[in-house]
Amino acid sequence: MNLNCKYLGLDLKNPLIVSSSNLTGELEQIQAIGKAGAAALVVKSIFEEQITGDSRHQLLQKEEYFWFKDAADVVDTLQKARSVQLHTRLINEASRQIQIPVIASINCVSNGNWVSYAHQVEQAGASALELNMGIFPKDQYQSGKDIEDVYVDIVKSIVHQVKIPVSVKLGHYFTNPLNIGKKLKEAGAQGVVLFNRYYQTDIDIHQMKLLNGHIYSTAAEITLPLRWVALFQREKIGLDISASTGVHNASGLIKQLLAGADTVQVNSVLYHKGIEFISHILGGLTDWMQEKGYEHIDDFKGAILKDPMNQTAFERIQFMKRNFEV
Ligand SMILES: Cc1cc2nc3c(=O)[nH]c(=O)nc-3n(C[C@H](O)[C@H](O)[C@H](O)COP(=O)(O)O)c2cc1C
Repeated sequence: MNLNCKYLGLDLKNPLIVSSSNLTGELEQIQAIGKAGAAALVVKSIFEEQITGDSRHQLLQKEEYFWFKDAADVVDTLQKARSVQLHTRLINEASRQIQIPVIASINCVSNGNWVSYAHQVEQAGASALELNMGIFPKDQYQSGKDIEDVYVDIVKSIVHQVKIPVSVKLGHYFTNPLNIGKKLKEAGAQGVVLFNRYYQTDIDIHQMKLLNGHIYSTAAEITLPLRWVALFQREKIGLDISASTGVHNASGLIKQLLAGADTVQVNSVLYHKGIEFISHILGGLTDWMQEKGYEHIDDFKGAILKDPMNQTAFERIQFMKRNFEV
């Protein structure tokens, strides 16, 4: 059974990537991920604000620094240097110590001076760079295009800084994800991750306070990215596609491959079941391939789209009576 596949020009031993989270923020766990059989991993994102040192503003709000601005400068500079140093050291150690590609991740919201940091990430040994971009509208005056232009400008700036492939991890808050995908491709991106699952705010009605709701996904959440993976594949935008959100088992992984994903990322399930669960998911994939008589991933990747009826089915968003008829 051959699970080899290609993503962002990288040769991967299978399609399973561990996505960016606290699980990929420490060397020990990164090593465990390598041992468990993942094909690649995305290191915990560094925030643009950590790179630029924009924590300065927050520091100045604190009483202890209020009276002595120089102290804030010193703390701020140290903090900035420390974040950046720790991050590049982690990438460097991870890429030297494990045999699988290490993908760096930067969480960014603006096209600023921080983009030069991408070069340091490359120098540290990252095989690719994932831009984790979630730009939320600030007010009623910003148009969708205003916001999308920022995504495109960031990608254009980043691809000038590095030779390693760049992918963009998107959320699903776009009127037309296919169009932003096309624009990102034209700007120089090689891949897209569909989709990030953002922080969710909830309310505790008894305590009357805000809650940090539903940190981890459920397996039912796979259907949203599944739709867009299929549509991205159908449109032949030319971006490599990595599916994220709601993949909790082998059948989730297989569904995304059938819809046309090049790779599939997992996170929440590893929080619940442990990093070793990676080998269980991969075992399920090989069992299924054996049962179906497939020898390579390419034998069935995107197979669900061969039927033109299926291609259009992913466009349907309204329920119709016949959907309920047996
Ligand atoms: C605790 C936690 C931390 C995360 N941190 C990051 C991050 O730093 N960068 C990022 O791109 N995604 C981050 N994510 C999102 C995950 O990479 C992933 O896209 C999301 O959890 C959906 O995948 P899942 O359904 O397999 O969990 C985080 C998710 C969780 C739960």
